Amino acid sequence: MTQRRSVGLEPKEWELESLKSESQHARVFSPSNIALAKYWGKRHVELNLPTNSSLSVSLADFGSFTTVEFHKSFESDRVILNRKEEAPTQMVKVRRILDELRRVAGTDLRARVQSANNFPTAAGLASSASGISAVTLAASEALGLGLPASDLSEIARKGSGSACRSFFGGYVEWTRGSRADGSDSRAAMVVPGTHWPLSIVIAVISGAKKHHASTGGMELTRRTSPYFKPWVECAEKQASEIRSAVLEKSFLRLADLVESNCIRMHASAMAAFPPVIYWHGGTIEIMRQIHDLRARGVPVFFTIDAGPNVVALMEPGAEKTVEAALSKIRGLELLWTGIGNGPRVEQK
Ligand code: PMV
Repeated sequence: MTQRRSVGLEPKEWELESLKSESQHARVFSPSNIALAKYWGKRHVELNLPTNSSLSVSLADFGSFTTVEFHKSFESDRVILNRKEEAPTQMVKVRRILDELRRVAGTDLRARVQSANNFPTAAGLASSASGISAVTLAASEALGLGLPASDLSEIARKGSGSACRSFFGGYVEWTRGSRADGSDSRAAMVVPGTHWPLSIVIAVISGAKKHHASTGGMELTRRTSPYFKPWVECAEKQASEIRSAVLEKSFLRLADLVESNCIRMHASAMAAFPPVIYWHGGTIEIMRQIHDLRARGVPVFFTIDAGPNVVALMEPGAEKTVEAALSKIRGLELLWTGIGNGPRVEQK
């Protein structure tokens, strides 16, 4: 059953180039997070302010391992992701974070960022959340800023909305806020994972890059989907109901709410023009299997981010039954994990 992948990566697996002597650097791990109540829609695009509150769980084992290094000999910022150099046009989000931290630190040193994910990148498993939160934490540590998680979370949000939730372990809420500058749109832990240690399996259908990056998908939905307004209206209500179901540990209520929230988000996206469809045939097959299991009394439910892969959450003890059912679907890779404690600094 436990097809957990190795929790860590050796530095040689994510650092293609060795560190300079006398550089200011830090290595960190930051987790991916999976939204139970989805963020889908921006009230301010540049600041990444959401149209509704969201709630996620931080994963224990899957995320980004990232080294950020500042050195006087670097002429420009560089990003090496999964051992491949990123084109300057792909680095907008990272540069936004580095610029903000350089401003706080009062430096103009350029950075080399080396990062690797231990799960499929850009397949709707919130790789931007773990990657952007990891860069933010590592850069802050490398510059000796030692900023608190709440400040880092706010800076990272401007790079990728969902990244603001990855600074905390357990069940994490990102409140919508109403101020124009976003100062009241913050993420914080609701309860630690120990409150309700659900098991998690990610059913990977495809690790291929998704067709629509989430920002593009959200904007297309906001501009063209007749279901965007109704989605926003119910999303805020569901986020607060999901929060209550977590606090009360009410499994069946949480299961119904999370699945409904996921389907409503995707329905609003599918109704955009041109349509934003993340699901594959296998996505629906897994959704059906999970419904069948729950109808038979197995405590499991699903959610799906901006990609075809399905994340199933279950009460501990249900893993074997879920594994047996999902194993009937061909070509799936199952990645098992649980709810984690948030990011950590591995070396400074
Ligand atoms: O933060 P982004 O731009 O990667 O968008 C995340 C969107 C979803 O994963 C679909 C939902 C969420 O709340 O994480």
